[in-house]
Amino acid sequence: MRRKLAAGNWKMNGTGAALSELEKLAQTPATSQTDILICPPATLISRAADTLAGTAIALGGQDCHALESGAHTGDISAQMLADAGASMVILGHSERREDHGERDEDVRAKARAAIDGGLTAVICVGESLAEREAANTLDIIGGQLAGSIPDTATGENLVIAYEPIWAIGTGKVPTIAQIGEVHDFIRARLERRFGEGVGRSTRILYGGSVKPDNAAEIFSVPNVDGALVGGASLKAADFSAIIAALDAA
Ligand code: PGA
Repeated sequence: MRRKLAAGNWKMNGTGAALSELEKLAQTPATSQTDILICPPATLISRAADTLAGTAIALGGQDCHALESGAHTGDISAQMLADAGASMVILGHSERREDHGERDEDVRAKARAAIDGGLTAVICVGESLAEREAANTLDIIGGQLAGSIPDTATGENLVIAYEPIWAIGTGKVPTIAQIGEVHDFIRARLERRFGEGVGRSTRILYGGSVKPDNAAEIFSVPNVDGALVGGASLKAADFSAIIAALDAA
């Protein structure tokens, strides 16, 4: 009942030259059960929308402000992202929580604004290495879920990405059992708060050092509905291989 989702997070990488990777990605054969999302820097969204016109590849932002407009120099609203061609937005990524001090309540306000603006909110949660070593992972994730997801969430306008901070950009990946434990926990929390319908239809992505060579194993874990991919989404060949592994899972 849940469509799979392969999401690429380009982070602060890419100028106009990177659009050639999207041209290559657009050659990826359309799959019946896997949605594809690329979140380039905001400066590229509108040009990327032109490049991807006529394809099934969706575009997303990497953050948005909690308000629609106003005196907030440097910020971008959900409406602006949608106007540029985005249909989704990553919110509460650990790099934003760390670099910009975003708290759960900030993420929740942004997610509410994203949903009000017609976007799907991809809300990121994840523990630090110290939190995992102290056996606090599920407490941390539970708190982030409770604090970051707005009440207006549904299976259509919400995606959760579980991204252990220690696995992002490090080449370290949790064991299959560790990923499965957290994804089952997230599913149970969503069902408890929103009911079975929303809980079961919300997609839960794994993120953190997903590569072509580990993707199939990660996608074999129950309740892993796809991936949020950083580094390996920058090259069309790598991301296509991950999409193929997801489609085959
Ligand atoms: P990575 O990043 O795939 O480069 O580890 C994932 C992310 O931060 O979304």
